Amino acid sequence: MYPDKKITIAIDGYSSCGKSTLAKALAKRLGYIFIDSGAMYRGITLYCMRHQLILDGKPLIEKIEKILPQIKLTFIYNSSSEKHDLYLNDEDVEELIRMPDVASNVSPIATIKSVREKLVAEQQKMGEYGGIVMDGRDIGSIVFPNAELKLFVTASPEIRAERRLKELTQKGIDTTFKIVLANLLERDLIDSTRKESPLIQTKDALFIDTSNLTQAAQLQLSLKYANQVLESYSDKTNC
Ligand code: CDP
Repeated sequence: MYPDKKITIAIDGYSSCGKSTLAKALAKRLGYIFIDSGAMYRGITLYCMRHQLILDGKPLIEKIEKILPQIKLTFIYNSSSEKHDLYLNDEDVEELIRMPDVASNVSPIATIKSVREKLVAEQQKMGEYGGIVMDGRDIGSIVFPNAELKLFVTASPEIRAERRLKELTQKGIDTTFKIVLANLLERDLIDSTRKESPLIQTKDALFIDTSNLTQAAQLQLSLKYANQVLESYSDKTNC
């Protein structure tokens, strides 16, 4: 539609609010790359769990800082899921990083400054030419502060927990609504109160509450916003 301009779209929000589903659909419609930045934090968490670098839920920060250069994260496109799967040191860990034990440990790991610096640098490199939709917690504030479109997505905690429970149950993971809700509330608290790049809604982000919106409606609304931005560039070109 506006072939020359490829914008950057930053989607932030609370855990399990449907950001990744929306980001993936939006990227597909626009022909952009979709990157789930949370997968990268989950990948580092899995590595730390495997190497006993988390003790009673507390990350061993100094040790983690030392081993960070040994962690190689790569995204490889999976044509059946139409998204990029995460590889940790060349091992496909896409399924493992979605497990509840990783979800329980990821937010403390994501508070570590050196972890964030490593991942933010990699994320910025992935987006240096635009044409990307990235979702996470600090995408509009830190990773791409100049993104042409920023969305801040949320939904009520109960709805988010129901959606995540459904996803986990479909994968055959045995858990309960109560456990899932407790995990997402705990992560919301850590993510929004941490010192290093906490989850915030930036002033220029558009707010979307997905509680009562179908996935199709969320996509339509976001596409409308994206097209408005793209149209503003085509107007500039025509002047
Ligand atoms: O899918 P869900 O919303 O449950 O979470 P996620 O996007 O996979 O992110 C997992 C965790 O990684 C979050 O709870 C944050 O602690 C951390 N994260 C972050 O700090 N910054 C990001 N840009 C993305 C994720």
